Amino acid sequence: MAAIRPLVAGNWKMHGTGSSLVELSTLRKRLAQAPIPEVEVMVCPPATLLTRAPEVLQGSEIVLGAQDCHPLASGPHTGDISAEMLADAGAKAVIVGHSERRMDHGETDALVNAKALAAYRAGLTAIICVGETEAERSEGATMSVVKRELQGSVPEEARAANTVIAYEPVWAIGSGLTPTPADVAEVHGFIRSVLGQLLGNGQSGAMRILYGGSVKPANAGELLYVPDVNGALVGGASLKADDFYAILAVYGRERTA
Ligand code: 13P
Repeated sequence: MAAIRPLVAGNWKMHGTGSSLVELSTLRKRLAQAPIPEVEVMVCPPATLLTRAPEVLQGSEIVLGAQDCHPLASGPHTGDISAEMLADAGAKAVIVGHSERRMDHGETDALVNAKALAAYRAGLTAIICVGETEAERSEGATMSVVKRELQGSVPEEARAANTVIAYEPVWAIGSGLTPTPADVAEVHGFIRSVLGQLLGNGQSGAMRILYGGSVKPANAGELLYVPDVNGALVGGASLKADDFYAILAVYGRERTA
């Protein structure tokens, strides 16, 4: 089977105004000066910057992603944004089911599943997030939680070409804590086997499974070469172009070594 091209996506969360586009511009310049073709690079800024980012990214290979969408294409849903609107703004992908949305907005697996279907309808890649809380991990429930979330959140229509899975242990997000590489390998291998049961081994074998949670330049080398890890979903460290580039550069190291 062909090797999977990894994806590193920066999730800016609720950070960034127009002045933050300078970071995008710096990232673009750094990648133009020293490209890292081994990795696909994506940035998911807040919705307010989606229409402004394409101007900065024009001519670069950095892909634009969004952070959430409504399941419907349009309608009386004040404050919501549809997948079609994201695609119209220039996004190629959308994160769905991030733990912050599951917690802050009570999003269920069924809703996440509907949002992933909305992404496909609009021609976007769905980045579907799963991951256990600290309490669930200490109860030994990591695998059952991840399995339940995958069964509920991943549509039957999911394919390697339209879906990316992000494993983000909730306790590792923004905490500076990370699972050990052995733990990450175990959960990612398990996720691939569950995806195999749900979608068949052809799809699961080619689907990208990202790790997310306190990925930094200092630990990226250790986390990104774990078996079954096909990239990262990066929060805080994606806000500064230099830090984000240093994470991406982990993939260029083999070539330059
Ligand atoms: P941090 O990298 O800030 O821990 O955030 C991870 C995350 O939630 C990305 O979606």
